Amino acid sequence: MSDDLQTIQADTETALAAASDLRAWDAVRVAVLGKNGTLTQKLKELAAVPPEQKRERGAALNRLKDSLAAVIEARRTALEEAALDARLSAERMDVTLPPPPRSTGLIHPISRTAEEMAAIFGAMGFAIAEGPDVEDDWRNFGALNIPAHHSAREDMDTFYLAAEGRRPVLRTHTSPVQIRTMLGQEPPIRVIVPGRTYRADHDATHSPMFHQVEGLVIDRDITLGHLKGCLIDFLRAFFGITTLPVRFRASYFPFTEPSMEVDIGWNRRTGELGSGGDWLEILGSGMVHAKVLANCGIDPRVWQGFAFGMGIERVTMLKHGIPDLRPFYDSDLRWLRHYGFNPLAPATLHEGV
Ligand code: PHE
Repeated sequence: MSDDLQTIQADTETALAAASDLRAWDAVRVAVLGKNGTLTQKLKELAAVPPEQKRERGAALNRLKDSLAAVIEARRTALEEAALDARLSAERMDVTLPPPPRSTGLIHPISRTAEEMAAIFGAMGFAIAEGPDVEDDWRNFGALNIPAHHSAREDMDTFYLAAEGRRPVLRTHTSPVQIRTMLGQEPPIRVIVPGRTYRADHDATHSPMFHQVEGLVIDRDITLGHLKGCLIDFLRAFFGITTLPVRFRASYFPFTEPSMEVDIGWNRRTGELGSGGDWLEILGSGMVHAKVLANCGIDPRVWQGFAFGMGIERVTMLKHGIPDLRPFYDSDLRWLRHYGFNPLAPATLHEGV
């Protein structure tokens, strides 16, 4: 090989070895094989070479071009592999590690409780149903056997919305979704309904907007025994206390008959759940009133069932020892960081059921 070509080869190899990333590598490639590259220049000059030397010179140039193209390509592969290795080791993740103690966002305790309830009732075969926050008077009251001048309407401190005719309300409970579900599907029915509810009430334990979970089961042979078994299982799973005392106390709701308030055992003085001899009311329940079934076109001689409703905030406060209801809606990050839940450890049945 002539001296000038040897120089090109040596210079190219030195420059390639010095190129530490793909950018520098590309500059070397262009400087040699590009339009005005050193080797390209030599190829262009071939035209001026005397005919008797042309053949040999041309062959040497082509060999050099092929061999340089090969080493340039090899260097590129090496640089790409090195870049990938660096990236993989920088981004290495051990998926067996526990989730970080605090990631950028946390799950609000209300959402967490709703998830846990969905997990527990889901394991019992309940589906989730939903309805709108703005209801009409009939679904919120009338169809639930709460007539126009019934005192239950005053109990609920309803927000009425200004509108002609249908008198829309902000639903005072999730029970209107019982009506929607029974009108919308044939029995058997097994649903829970988590959602927002509204009453004109505001203090340390009441908020004008709060959350409830409704439950509804309709089938051919449903009895009070099913209601009791279902709620005892749920409460023990939710609070994680297998021996949690549960008491059913006769009560009244217009849409259930018989109706029962459900209490759990706790210690009023210490706030500890599960023992202590005191009782705390947790939820309302009962067998779905025959009139409510009939209002939804379901024959009460064939179908029967039970319903229940509970406040999400209340059970969340009890389970996690949260003393005041108001900060639930303040969006104070210090509160959320303290009481929030890790999104990478979603509610499962590991601790429950
Ligand atoms: N809707 C009732 C309330 O808000 C609770 C309830 C639901 C009671 C279903 C019985 C059956 O107080």
